[in-house]
Amino acid sequence: MNSNALKKVAVLTSGGDAPGMNAAIRSVVRSSLYYNLEVFGVFRGFEGLIENDIRALNPRSVSQILQKGGTILKSARSEAFREKEGRQKAFENLKSRGIDALIVIGGNGTFTGAMKFQEEFGIKVMGIPGTIDNDLFGSDFTIGFDSACNTVIDAVDKIRDTALSHNRIFFVEVMGRDAGYIATSCALASGAIAAIIPERKMSIEDLISKLNRGMESKKVSSIIIVAEGGHLGKAVDIAREVEKRFSYYESKVTILGHIQRGGAPSIHDRILASKLGVGAVEGLIEGKSNCMVGKIHKDIVYTPLKDAISKTSKMDENLHRISDILST
Ligand code: F6P
Repeated sequence: MNSNALKKVAVLTSGGDAPGMNAAIRSVVRSSLYYNLEVFGVFRGFEGLIENDIRALNPRSVSQILQKGGTILKSARSEAFREKEGRQKAFENLKSRGIDALIVIGGNGTFTGAMKFQEEFGIKVMGIPGTIDNDLFGSDFTIGFDSACNTVIDAVDKIRDTALSHNRIFFVEVMGRDAGYIATSCALASGAIAAIIPERKMSIEDLISKLNRGMESKKVSSIIIVAEGGHLGKAVDIAREVEKRFSYYESKVTILGHIQRGGAPSIHDRILASKLGVGAVEGLIEGKSNCMVGKIHKDIVYTPLKDAISKTSKMDENLHRISDILST
């Protein structure tokens, strides 16, 4: 493998944490050391990069983290990195240590900052998709999505017990400010009658028709999954509207919130994170940069950061179709 003069890499996590980020950090650190690269951890994302919160890591620095949620490097959404002055300081901190490349684990906002950073200062950057939202182009899945979905369906299964016992409709709000992947997948996997998401129009009337159909076929409870960024508003607003027109059953709302981001990563996320961490380091060694490492089917692929954030990863329409067929 061509070493491409790469000697020192740094890794950070930024934006919303996601289960499996630690597994990705471990993979980056251990594979860097395997290829005789020095590796540094940047704490608190771009904020720590600006404030020089950077430490050398060794194989033991990442012991016992594979199975843990959150991120040992901590995360932040940095306002200062949006300014040229902040990015200049960040670059100087990397330069003073002779760091040639920066691996960023995060989502849309993280990659937008990283792309700008490479363009301005020529530092090599490589993105690893770490977000529960699964909304990046260039990877079938992002790290954290599978674990978050497991948390959601575990909660919905429990909610269903009480929904059934009381003949109630439950509106369960899940994360996804701009993306409905969690809502769509969890609706199918938990037997919900509908997913209300940002990418797909559904009217209150459509929802009422579904509820009426359910009632005609003697359904005594229903679950509706609402993405927080759904076009009909928040779960409480939708529940209020539905109650005005469908009063046979009482409506209840549960907002799952940040529990979706916590907890141990699933086996899927641990394996994905391990593969992408090695893929990121090997890609940099091969001379790739300004891209995101992803996995499509079984292949490790590299997508320019600008495409990863601007092209939309297509929602699998079949999920909705199957949900409609099965949720009668
Ligand atoms: O970007 C991931 C995400 O989980 C979104 O789905 C959600 O809207 C957002 O983070 C919440 O972020 P915060 O923790 O800053 O409230």
